[in-house]
Amino acid sequence: MQITVNGSAHKVEVEEDMPLLWVLRDELKLTGTKFGCGGGFCGACTIHLDGQPVRACLTPVSFAEGKQITTVEGLSIYGDHPLQLAWIEHNVPQCGYCQSGQLMSAAALLQQTPNPDDKQIDQAMTGNLCRCGTYPRIKSAISAAAK
Ligand code: FES
Repeated sequence: MQITVNGSAHKVEVEEDMPLLWVLRDELKLTGTKFGCGGGFCGACTIHLDGQPVRACLTPVSFAEGKQITTVEGLSIYGDHPLQLAWIEHNVPQCGYCQSGQLMSAAALLQQTPNPDDKQIDQAMTGNLCRCGTYPRIKSAISAAAK
């Protein structure tokens, strides 16, 4: 099977129903995408498929064939996406585990809605959980990056 990740084509020899999360992490060693719940509840595994945020833990790899897969590693070449810079500026992460998923959901939001209001941010980010409670800083960083 061939998949395109962060602009590069990869041939992977895996079962077609294997979750994309494990293909990314175990086959391609792209470990920025995290395993949290494995059931679509926490958002730690959020990636983009053709620009849309999806849960890699629930997405069979075959579903991603022919689509553009973007992981947190592909968000920017030098780690200088406006959201990444705002994350640093606002000291968003605590333990950091959920943050790549948070960033990917936020990036999808800004792609579709460059200047989101508070309600739109809340709606877009509602499926991304953070056990450290960094929500206020996440929100501030998204607002700052949108400016
Ligand atoms: Fe996929 Fe939690 S690991 S939503």
